[in-house]
Amino acid sequence: MNKFSAVTEATAPGKIILFGEHAVVYGRPAIAAPISQLRAKAIITYSSSNACYIVAPDLNRHDRLQDLPPDDALALAARQVLDAAHIAQPPDVTIYVSSQIPIASGMGSGAAIAAAIIRALAMHLNRPDLQTNERVSALTYEVEKIHHGTPSGIDNTVVAYEQPIWFVRQLPQNQIEPFTVATPLRFVVADTGVPSSTKIAVGDVRRQYEAQPATFTEIFDACGRIAQTARLAIETGNITQIGQLMTENHGWLQKMTVSSPELDSLVEAALAAGALGAKLSGAGRGGNMIALVADEAMETAVRTALHHAGARSTLTTILQ
Ligand code: PMV
Repeated sequence: MNKFSAVTEATAPGKIILFGEHAVVYGRPAIAAPISQLRAKAIITYSSSNACYIVAPDLNRHDRLQDLPPDDALALAARQVLDAAHIAQPPDVTIYVSSQIPIASGMGSGAAIAAAIIRALAMHLNRPDLQTNERVSALTYEVEKIHHGTPSGIDNTVVAYEQPIWFVRQLPQNQIEPFTVATPLRFVVADTGVPSSTKIAVGDVRRQYEAQPATFTEIFDACGRIAQTARLAIETGNITQIGQLMTENHGWLQKMTVSSPELDSLVEAALAAGALGAKLSGAGRGGNMIALVADEAMETAVRTALHHAGARSTLTTILQ
């Protein structure tokens, strides 16, 4: 796209965390993957109204950028790009935002919306240097702080790179390794329908860690070891082991108190219907769980069982 383009469009995917949520905040490795069929989209058009507008019909939003407060996530995404491009006066454009990713469900909707706005605006301004996965991820991270407080950085990374990601939060630079999947992995994703606040769940884990550091260090270490083994299993196509590790990881997340009766009953229902493994995905307390299935027949059985157990909705995503 160049500065004469009338319309600029960019999208970013939703995501699931396969292994290591919460422990990742404390420097243990985690694995996340994109859900490419669920996307956030930003479309930029020239506006004749001498202002930059952000319009998000699904969120009932139609605002001038200059009127929005510093902690508005959509405005912050746009401002990140303008600041990085050293542009003081926003261009006269309308940024339309839409998303198919459910909000507050652990599927990375906030990160995907921010990444789509950032990429589209960088394209509109003809700034390829701000369109690299690395830059989009870093700018999205700044927006994620509004949603999460102290995000590990895994969400912005996986939505910007749109590949399975091995992620370790560390200084001076996070370890980010896109990696290959030996055998396609079929996941059923089920929504409890219970909204979950990442900030609250992360804060509760922090308080418990501070009260019982030895116990929580053990829990985080166990999750880190699971992620380590799981990466090898994914790279070698050992799907039975991947499933077992998911279920094991769920057990540790229960010990962190981030599961919920709804998540537990969906995990149990998926396993009883034959899933190879199941766990909550994301911050927990509500939001989504994921189940690994071997084939379409198993997928149908598991999806049916999940609906009977109260899932609000289910979808299937294949990671390859
Ligand atoms: O935003 P969610 O629900 O996908 O949770 C993010 C994962 C956590 O590990 C719980 C938090 C973080 O910043 O890594």
